[in-house]
Amino acid sequence: MSNEALGIIGGTGRLGGAIARAVLVKALLSAGNLVISNRSGRHPLAQQGAYLVADNQDLVDRSDVVILAIRPEHFASLNIDATGKTVISLMAGISAKTTMVQTSALAVVRAMPNAAVEIEQSFTPWHCSGEIETTTRSLVQRLFECVGTAVEVQEEDFIDYLSALSGTGPAFPALLMTALANQAMAAGIPSDIAQLAAKSVVVNSSQLLARQDAQQIIDTLVAYRGVTAAALQAMTHSHFEEQIGRALYEGAAVARKGLQT
Ligand SMILES: NC(=O)c1ccc[n+]([C@@H]2O[C@H](COP(=O)([O-])OP(=O)(O)OC[C@H]3O[C@@H](n4cnc5c(N)ncnc54)[C@H](OP(=O)(O)O)[C@@H]3O)[C@@H](O)[C@H]2O)c1
Repeated sequence: MSNEALGIIGGTGRLGGAIARAVLVKALLSAGNLVISNRSGRHPLAQQGAYLVADNQDLVDRSDVVILAIRPEHFASLNIDATGKTVISLMAGISAKTTMVQTSALAVVRAMPNAAVEIEQSFTPWHCSGEIETTTRSLVQRLFECVGTAVEVQEEDFIDYLSALSGTGPAFPALLMTALANQAMAAGIPSDIAQLAAKSVVVNSSQLLARQDAQQIIDTLVAYRGVTAAALQAMTHSHFEEQIGRALYEGAAVARKGLQT
């Protein structure tokens, strides 16, 4: 168990709340070492022993490491002095430099989890700018391992790119599932059956990918020259991969440009 005190600004939100719950359940921290804030200073999480405040500077003063789990549009009005501390920002589209200038933090970690923090299945790449102790670096890794897997990346720009990839969580599978169901309905399959079939592909069959290599599955099915091969080749010939590349490029461009207003 870590002895460092962790503060989560926005610790009652979707991401911040899931992280707060996970660090307590996984016993990374004791409840006495966890401080969370929101604007009202009220939330059921306080009943689990975490300290809940409405004053963000109070939170910073009580913490060694501070997570910013607020939305990017709320950052400009966030007035905190985190001199000498490590600030971990989950905000998409706000650079480490901007965060460091506004908070006076000694080190800024930019981390990009996704909505699967709720089920402890997030992938969280993170990047550190500034001076960080080895023990704090290890805490960052273990913190995000409480909600899935985590990897330190060497370039801040990877965070912007990955915001559009893993940061989107269930978005791409949701798009695929909806498209499969819609096309099946358009072809005359009853709605309930079309939706069950699409869900079985995206949610159930895809679990085989956890233990089988994706490229090998494709190669095997294409080599079989059957129904699946015909369907996959139609997608390949329609420039499926280029369209994915374009989607990631457009998303990353928004992250790089910045979301702060
Ligand atoms: N959701 C995702 O899938 C996802 C993925 C990757 C990255 N992110 C990033 O994660 C961040 C949080 O996203 P989210 O979906 O968890 O948002 P959210 O559910 O809206 O949570 C934001 C939290 O911040 C609190 N808050 C707002 N202003 C505050 C202030 N001045 N002081 C203290 N607390 C404040 C809100 O509570 P009150 O309104 O009660 O104050 C709320 O609990 C965003 O920056 C987003 O870019 C999200």
